[in-house]
Amino acid sequence: MKALVLSGGSGTRLRPLSHTIPKQLVPVANKPVLAYGLEAIRDAGITEVGLVVGDRMADIREAVGDGERFGLKVTYIPQSAPLGLAHAVVIARDFLGDDDFLMYLGDNIVLDGVTELVEGFRARPCDAQVTVHHADPREGGLAVLDADGRVLRVEEKPKHPTGDLALMGMYVFTPVIHEAVRAISPSPRGELEITDAIGWLVQAGHDVRGHLYEGFWQDAGLIETLLESNQAVLDCLGSRIAGKVDDETEVIGRVIIEEQATVTRSRLVGPLVIGAGSIIDGSYVGPYSSVGEQCVIEDATVEYSIVMDRVAIRDVRGVYGSVIGTGTSVRAGSAGRAGSGRGGHRLILGENSQISLV
Ligand code: TTP
Repeated sequence: MKALVLSGGSGTRLRPLSHTIPKQLVPVANKPVLAYGLEAIRDAGITEVGLVVGDRMADIREAVGDGERFGLKVTYIPQSAPLGLAHAVVIARDFLGDDDFLMYLGDNIVLDGVTELVEGFRARPCDAQVTVHHADPREGGLAVLDADGRVLRVEEKPKHPTGDLALMGMYVFTPVIHEAVRAISPSPRGELEITDAIGWLVQAGHDVRGHLYEGFWQDAGLIETLLESNQAVLDCLGSRIAGKVDDETEVIGRVIIEEQATVTRSRLVGPLVIGAGSIIDGSYVGPYSSVGEQCVIEDATVEYSIVMDRVAIRDVRGVYGSVIGTGTSVRAGSAGRAGSGRGGHRLILGENSQISLV
């Protein structure tokens, strides 16, 4: 079995972050989202991976390379534009050949891996296997199953769902899917929808089965779901202190401090991770925070946030629920600095930035 991992797309829901970093490379607990998927695929015993990439191919290639660091053999499949999940299958035809394959969305995080669903398919082969979970199907799409797990119907983003099983971004397909993706037409939003291809298989009388997944799964394509993913992953990590922590620092809970990080006069309350070479001084870093490499946090408080590499946060209290991009500097301004005599915030913000001030 091969794997097809979708890492193109436009990432509009993750702007402005996705203007500068493909959403699959945004760090969750200091590891790119895509790495979780690739590791899960490797752990399921699959080694040949086709990686569908769009205009951010160079960034993704830099992070993944030929896949060796993940124990995989990666083939890049460029997609001219995000024309849909089923379009990705169309362009991967040569790579996939006549093999069965696991299709995985590169912006998804599954903490329980994909081994169970791959083994489920092997134990009970069918023409296609979709993964479902108990959730509101209005976002991901609805699957209606019979008592034996056979899919009777699927519906893309139904307004009035008639069931509580939602489709997730993990599928196992046999070569019959190639017929389906060629038979369907683009949806009103102009994409070839994988749900339509699955619907086509069901209509044509193929044996499509639903695999129920009950572990943590998240589409990390939104700020809120990204933060939730970060929280879920940090909840699973242990403690490790490889950096330096001085006597004036209090460390509570599960905390990871990587090599060459230094923490002085601070309070750390886990679960959290501080990346290599970062400096924390006179600060409080609270639960569910991921601080990247080479950051500086001085006289500041940070909680429930993703702070990417080389960020500086100085003299700022109450950073919460934030995602701060690489190389950003956040600091308190001094009142009246501009000569107006009034206090205030100095903001230099790109398009579609989101700021909450209190
Ligand atoms: P989506 O999140 O459905 O689409 P998107 O990336 O365009 O995001 P947004 O809605 O915020 O604009 O995509 C799921 C995954 O599949 C994601 O990793 C991107 C990838 N993808 C492709 O590789 N090719 C495509 O044509 C599409 C639509 C998505």
